[in-house]
Amino acid sequence: MFAGIAGRYDLANRVLSGGVDRSWRRKVMAAAGSPGPGATVVDVACGTGDLALLFAKAGAQVVGVDFTYEMVAIAPSKDRERGGAVAWLQGDGLDLPIGGSVADAATIAFGLRNVADRRRCLREMARVVRPGGRVLVLEFSMPRKDAFGRIYRAYLEHVLPRIGGALSGDRAAYNYLDDTVQGWPGPEQLQEEMEADGLVDCGFERLWRGIACIHHGVVPPQTQMPDARG
Ligand SMILES: C[S@@+](CC[C@H](N)C(=O)[O-])C[C@H]1O[C@@H](n2cnc3c(N)ncnc32)[C@H](O)[C@@H]1O
Repeated sequence: MFAGIAGRYDLANRVLSGGVDRSWRRKVMAAAGSPGPGATVVDVACGTGDLALLFAKAGAQVVGVDFTYEMVAIAPSKDRERGGAVAWLQGDGLDLPIGGSVADAATIAFGLRNVADRRRCLREMARVVRPGGRVLVLEFSMPRKDAFGRIYRAYLEHVLPRIGGALSGDRAAYNYLDDTVQGWPGPEQLQEEMEADGLVDCGFERLWRGIACIHHGVVPPQTQMPDARG
């Protein structure tokens, strides 16, 4: 599905979010401790690279990993004014092609909802982060069922698939977005899962009345996180 929409993905993102996704990505960067020169960040499900490039512009060394070749193949063409270096890899977030405890932070933006096993992905992200480093998840969530929540649901179900479909040429991809967002666990459950997988100091920040959330957790100091691949 992502291979099919890769060429129009950025445009659809900007239009559907009104550009707000950019400010959310900057918040992820701040939640990661604003890594700069000397820091290493792994961005899982990096897609066309927007979050990875923010870290690189701040001078961090970045590894961007995505399953879909057509998505990650777009990233290098956007990789111009960077300060740090980016390695773009085609790879699986459930089996990261990266050694243990090498990064200061691992991030995933709008990707955890799409992987086949989110717990395993979280464990893989924790595995590649050094003790004391951070794991960050930016993901959509559902707002409360008040007036705003009802309007947002109507937008997700009726407006977003039409506009997303027109921009990307694949309406089914944006019906999928609606289905997966509405079926996504609440932030409290995701926090419990992060804690159950060994992360500490976990928490989340709701963005825009809860239509998205940034989750954060820390790899406990002096701990070797288990290899999710068993
Ligand atoms: C909605 S896009 C998000 C892209 C980017 N992070 C962003 O913020 O725009 C979801 C991405 O998850 C990737 N993906 C899905 N399953 C994956 C997996 N198992 N490993 C790595 N990437 C995966 C898809 O290829 C797609 O590029």
